[in-house]
Amino acid sequence: MKKCIGNSFISFFPDSSTPKTIIIDEIVVDPKFRRQGIGTQLINHVKNYVSQNKNLYNQITLFADPLDESVIFDNLISFYKANGFTQDSELANLMFWPPV
Ligand SMILES: CC(C)(COP(=O)(O)OP(=O)(O)OC[C@H]1O[C@@H](n2cnc3c(N)ncnc32)[C@H](O)[C@@H]1OP(=O)(O)O)[C@@H](O)C(=O)NCCC(=O)NCCS
Repeated sequence: MKKCIGNSFISFFPDSSTPKTIIIDEIVVDPKFRRQGIGTQLINHVKNYVSQNKNLYNQITLFADPLDESVIFDNLISFYKANGFTQDSELANLMFWPPV
């Protein structure tokens, strides 16, 4: 039997926004399987989708908001920065890929 150990919810905003954005609403990996590259695989899946659909999308946006009190904000930022995202200059939890 297969088990789900990671999940992400994304929203699509083609045409109606500038830049044309996919928003990662939530990304979570089972605590027992963290630091094994699974979150990166989920992010890469979205990046590949953007790269393959350049006519529809040119950016991924997200708000780095800890899922619960066990999640340290700075660690979340480290995760997204390790995956090539940059922080907005004003809103610390707003992040973009590719960097703007
Ligand atoms: C954020 C999350 C999805 C990362 O998933 P993951 O599978 O553990 O991440 P990866 O193994 O792909 O990590 C890739 C890199 O990101 C960085 N990173 C990941 N977790 C980190 C942490 N806790 N502290 C510091 N850096 C971290 C590291 O550079 C890591 O590479 P390394 O392990 O070789 O050092 C996972 O920690 C999680 O589910 N957190 C709780 C849910 C949550 O709050 N989600 C936020 C919604 S916005």
